[in-house]
Amino acid sequence: MSAEIKVTIYYGPHSWFEKQIGRKDRIYLLEAVNDREESRRQFRHTIDGQEPQENPEPPPRPLNLVASSSDYASIQEHAISNFIGLVREISPKHLLLHNPPEVIHAQTDRVFKTKVIHYEYPVLTRQTLIEFRDGFSDHLVGQTNVRERMLAALYQLTTPHRTKPVVVMFYGPSGVGKTETAQFINNLIGGTLLRKQFSMFHSDKFASYLFGGNHGEASFARDLLDRSSGVILLDEFDKANSVFHSAFYEVFDEGVLVDKNYRVDLGPTLIICTSNYGSEKEIRESLGDALHSRFDALIPFDPLSKEEIGRVLDRLVDGKLIKLSAKERSIIDPESIKTKILSHVNRTGNVRKLSKIVDETISLLLVRILLDSES
Ligand SMILES: Nc1ncnc2c1ncn2[C@@H]1O[C@H](COP(=O)(O)OP(=O)(O)OP(=O)(O)O)[C@@H](O)[C@H]1O
Ligand SMILES: [Mg+2]
Repeated sequence: MSAEIKVTIYYGPHSWFEKQIGRKDRIYLLEAVNDREESRRQFRHTIDGQEPQENPEPPPRPLNLVASSSDYASIQEHAISNFIGLVREISPKHLLLHNPPEVIHAQTDRVFKTKVIHYEYPVLTRQTLIEFRDGFSDHLVGQTNVRERMLAALYQLTTPHRTKPVVVMFYGPSGVGKTETAQFINNLIGGTLLRKQFSMFHSDKFASYLFGGNHGEASFARDLLDRSSGVILLDEFDKANSVFHSAFYEVFDEGVLVDKNYRVDLGPTLIICTSNYGSEKEIRESLGDALHSRFDALIPFDPLSKEEIGRVLDRLVDGKLIKLSAKERSIIDPESIKTKILSHVNRTGNVRKLSKIVDETISLLLVRILLDSES
């Protein structure tokens, strides 16, 4: 009869998992697998005239065998499919698994006494709504319509019986505050923002990322399991090829993502997709009715007005001046810089570009003065 093994499975971010297991005396799965292979390689040899050595004592059972989310990738496929066999050989008293693939969870459930602990994600409260409303203008100039629409969307997450995510699409021109708004909300709720930029994936890699590939490959479901944030940001959603849209149906509807290796249940979380679509009509045409109708809100970000660009410029120039030395500051006239830039900017007011123009203008002024004084 094999020794009894107690199993605890933890679903949540890595830092939380480490805290959960605390200072327990432990051996990591990879170490244990390497040790096992090492001892298999050793062979015994006998020397004439000497008694053959007795079989050494089996090593004592490890107290805690630990595997975290990234460890499974280093184990070979056959060891994953016969995980129980591997664990029995190592024979720990307690097996602690962090975000394991589904096959492993299913095996331990079948064979051992398995307890499952889920991380409790930060929740959105009425206090968060107040902080969002009151802090919005410190982060963004203009976009008051966004503030109101977001409050309505966020409110749905404060209702106690909500079990599925709220999914919103931010759309509009570049550099007017979409990513910034997502980051601001996440800072209010807590945790490190999970941000996925869809333009960074090539199609073949993206397929295995979304639908699951070899258990060692990057996986969206595993990234979702590992996240600590209450907000999930799918940046540049418009850059994902339409063949992948169906992958999001269940995620948006139920908050469930099942890929080849993992299953994740998101619960009442906030999913923000950003895009540069110009209108709701364009979203419907590009994403199709099925996906379009799954968004709880489509929130437009407007181009900034001339007056708003002026206010952004004030903030940008003042922010940059603070970082200069007193001497540098004394030779720069902020008002003339603002007026000069304002006369050149175009309509949409891409703040990212504006910030670069401010940097360049100030540097150019400083370097001219420096060179003039040298000559
Ligand atoms: N309305 C705004 N008021 C103040 N700062 C802003 C505003 N919009 C953007 N910014 C600043 O400009 C920079 C770029 O903004 P952000 O990343 O949010 O742009 P975006 O709308 O996501 O653009 P893209 O579509 O290119 O991703 C950030 O540093 C942000 O703080
Ligand atoms: Mg952005």
